Amino acid sequence: MTAVRTETTAQSASDTSFPPGFVWGAATAAYQVEGAAAEDGRTPSIWDTFSHTPGRVRNGDTGDIAADHYHRYKDDVALMKDLGLQAYRFSVSWSRVQPTGRGPAVERGLDFYRRLTDELLEAGITPVATLYHWDLPQELEDAGGWPQRDTAHRFANYAEIMARALGDRVGVWTTLNEPWCSAFLGYGSGVHAPGRTDPAATLRAAHHLNLAHGLAIGALRENLPSTAQTSITLNLHQVRPLTGSAADAEAARRIDAVGNRIFTGPILDGAYPEDLLADTAHLVDWAELVHDGDLAEISRPIDLLGVNYYSPTVVSAAAGDGASTRDDGHGASAHSPWTGADDVAFHLANDQLTAMNWAIDATGLHTLLTGLAASHPGLPLMVTENGAAFDDYVSPEGRVNDPQRIAYLHSHLDAVRQAVADGADVRGYFLWSLLDNFEWSYGYSKRFGAVYVDYGTQRRIPKASAHWYAEVIRRNALPGAGEQG
Ligand code: FCB
Repeated sequence: MTAVRTETTAQSASDTSFPPGFVWGAATAAYQVEGAAAEDGRTPSIWDTFSHTPGRVRNGDTGDIAADHYHRYKDDVALMKDLGLQAYRFSVSWSRVQPTGRGPAVERGLDFYRRLTDELLEAGITPVATLYHWDLPQELEDAGGWPQRDTAHRFANYAEIMARALGDRVGVWTTLNEPWCSAFLGYGSGVHAPGRTDPAATLRAAHHLNLAHGLAIGALRENLPSTAQTSITLNLHQVRPLTGSAADAEAARRIDAVGNRIFTGPILDGAYPEDLLADTAHLVDWAELVHDGDLAEISRPIDLLGVNYYSPTVVSAAAGDGASTRDDGHGASAHSPWTGADDVAFHLANDQLTAMNWAIDATGLHTLLTGLAASHPGLPLMVTENGAAFDDYVSPEGRVNDPQRIAYLHSHLDAVRQAVADGADVRGYFLWSLLDNFEWSYGYSKRFGAVYVDYGTQRRIPKASAHWYAEVIRRNALPGAGEQG
């Protein structure tokens, strides 16, 4: 069993290299790549239901086949090996291994993850498993979903199943990926599954996701060897006020509360922030929601914090009819995901945009990492997702040239390197994504992969950025001035 290394050495600012032992990886998620939606006993998750509901996903795309990773995992691992990847962050489809979200596991489902992890280990690639990347078994949503407290207990039971099944071969575990999206996009704006738009349900979901994380950490710890590392991955918003005005600072405070501190507060500091409780007191009864003992569960120690970063979040006060500007980069909805933070407008940090219309600004990643190092010294960090979608196409010669993605990765990796030089204990970096895949409500219209997928044939074509990244990994350093790759 391999784990990520336990020490870092700071680098000098002029050096383009990363610390020895820095882990280089790529990430995917089950529903986005696996396909095989109804095979070997898998039952629908909320994303199957959502994507099959007309109007929810662009072009009516679904994850039924996706990148067919379920059948092509061997080839995909061989591709990872060719690129020199040292770690692969994948997620487990809960309804593949425990179809109803309760009761005994399905061995055929577990076997897929056993085969995948064996193949990775054989190739010398460290498996990094995420238990939940947004695909709740539909039966649990039918029973109330994340707004229901029992869902957190179901999740802890599933974590135990996975630790017992894979604990001998997976050394790095993540409970949840981006619980903000599960709660606020799933139950607030409704642009993600299950597509509900209910402010109280959103906050209840957030608390139960926190509780699920804490209970799962307990279950993992009880069932994993002591060398295993546990973590959660958050999409912390790098919130910036548009101007220096007091009103914009207040907008930033409120977005930071419902975007970040609703998770970092209980998980890392053992309490929900007072200002968050005050901002949302009219929406939910926190005293009823948070039971005695919950915060102790939620704040169980973790070994690593996963950080996903794409673009900064620039906000200002919106003069008020009560409606926040909805254009915040998370998808169009008549309902704001920012429960409890009305009258906030969202802005682009600059006009250099990816195909998602997200502004490219690598300084945000540096600020996030150094900010966490300052606020939570001693907590090792891992960049578990970073990358960009562009309108990639295959040239007549059969190549995919993506200089914009190379530039994006270069600037963001340089920000990581600089954060390490400035004292942040960043242990590794996972590019999002290994493969082009099902980009949630955007379906297959957005390509984030380092490897192009021709969905008609399932042919994989490593993009120029994949070759560039392979070279960075080989050298454990960025190209120097004048050698942009
Ligand atoms: C993150 C998700 C990931 C992918 C990227 C682009 O929020 O975790 O699955 O969709 O965004």
